[in-house]
Amino acid sequence: MIKPFKIRDIEINPPLVLSPMAGVTDISFRRLLKGRGGIGLTVSEFISVEGLTRHNPKSKRQMRFYENERPFAVQIFGGQPARMRMAAEMAEEVGADILDVNCGCPAPKVVKHGGGSGLLKDHPRLEEILTEIKKAITIPMTVKIRAGFYDHTINAIETAKLAEACGAEHIALHGRTKEQGYRGQANWDLVKQIKETVGIPVSGSGDVTTIEQAFDRFRETGCDGVLIGRGAMANPWIFRQIEDAMHGREPFQPTLEDKRAVLLEYFEMLREDMRELAAIGRMKQLAGQFTRGLHGGALFRTAMYHSHSVTEILDRISEYFETISEGRQYFGEAGPPHEIIEAPALDSCELASVTAAS
Ligand SMILES: Cc1cc2nc3c(=O)[nH]c(=O)nc-3n(C[C@H](O)[C@H](O)[C@H](O)COP(=O)(O)O)c2cc1C
Repeated sequence: MIKPFKIRDIEINPPLVLSPMAGVTDISFRRLLKGRGGIGLTVSEFISVEGLTRHNPKSKRQMRFYENERPFAVQIFGGQPARMRMAAEMAEEVGADILDVNCGCPAPKVVKHGGGSGLLKDHPRLEEILTEIKKAITIPMTVKIRAGFYDHTINAIETAKLAEACGAEHIALHGRTKEQGYRGQANWDLVKQIKETVGIPVSGSGDVTTIEQAFDRFRETGCDGVLIGRGAMANPWIFRQIEDAMHGREPFQPTLEDKRAVLLEYFEMLREDMRELAAIGRMKQLAGQFTRGLHGGALFRTAMYHSHSVTEILDRISEYFETISEGRQYFGEAGPPHEIIEAPALDSCELASVTAAS
């Protein structure tokens, strides 16, 4: 039975979380997806505590959120307890509902300074960080971890127990090691084991892209929540579809018009929020993920890739969706071929030599 859960008194309803993704889940993307429905909790991109505590404007911007996005978690990363504590205080000050600590990022520049997944192999440091943060904030502290650092040092259960002992109120596990990166399959059995071990809510992350997979993961592991990251880039309606199925409704099926509208809406939000060039870059990223599997999607992605202005992007979107909604074949930037060259008929001698050579 899939039901809402609580992080202290904050209801996560439905129990579906938009997984944090650096460079993706910024304020515009979260607003876009929240608007499609079915999301119980959104999380910021991971934010550098070095940036925050040194008043880097980019890091501060990353903490922005919309009121109707609540409940909203700010995720921070870093390896220095004092800076983690200061950044956690800042997150509480800006009004975040939850403070999430990143213990999973595999990027070398993050790990080198002891942060992200580096904390999985340095439990004393993790303990100090969580204890410091816990003393400083009144909002719930949660932790997102990986299975372990190396493939031969899987310690997610110990990490989860430590986090709980330090006062964490929710654990999210991405069931891959730091060494694994994004290769192979996420290990959901570990989610089950953590759920059986700790008393706080536990959610799982990794490879959920369909309604069936979400249902299976809930049933197999008994987890409280499911996070979806990459699957939401390909299908912004995935949360709503899962929620529909949870309530016994026919899952929402977006039309081509819905798909076109979501791209345009996203582009508009991006342009409101950032410089034109940056908005164009982000737009290409989403369009790339979003049109996988759509008819002529690969050609559309190439056309988008070669677009360098707002007008070009808008033109490519109109051309593509107009063409496929009329059932015509999309030929990409080159347009339809101008003349069809008939292959010359082969006489029987040529046919014999072709057959012999093949
Ligand atoms: C582009 C990208 C950026 C990510 N950034 C973060 C991040 O900032 N913080 C974090 O905890 N996890 C991050 N992750 C991991 C995801 O939250 C998630 O745990 C992982 O992608 C597996 O889930 P999925 O298969 O649903 O994408 C990122 C993943 C991707 C693909």
